[in-house]
Amino acid sequence: MTSIVVPTLWQSLRARALDPALPELVEPHESERTWTRLPSPAGLEFWLIAWPPGAGTNWHDHGPAAGAFTVLSGSLVEHTFNGGLQLVDHRVGDGRAFPAGYAHNVRNESGRPALSLHAYAPRLTTMTRFRFLGDRLEVLGVEKAGEEW
Ligand SMILES: [Fe+2]
Repeated sequence: MTSIVVPTLWQSLRARALDPALPELVEPHESERTWTRLPSPAGLEFWLIAWPPGAGTNWHDHGPAAGAFTVLSGSLVEHTFNGGLQLVDHRVGDGRAFPAGYAHNVRNESGRPALSLHAYAPRLTTMTRFRFLGDRLEVLGVEKAGEEW
């Protein structure tokens, strides 16, 4: 299932990212991430996230949802761990689609604001929070839609 969902999700995300009105749909904050859930087709969920310099998600996955994100302005650094820590610098137009269970830590490590568009399928219902211990990720807990966000 994942092999079908992930490319489709990426295509949906890239198509949605063409909307020139997106930057006006989220209110940036000077020190914290802000986000808005966009009207989305059934089975899919789009989120727009504004990142001030220094803001980050900490380590998390997306529960049973596959996901994708792309940078609309600025840049984001994505940390992943698969036996070794990897850092990827995503610039405007860059991004990634990933299957359920994928964990990462996304940060704006630049000195200027960033904006990104995210897609999840099915819609985001849980996120597992982790702590990175250098050689593994330790589960801290599970956040639920409607409670933590
Ligand atoms: Fe994420």
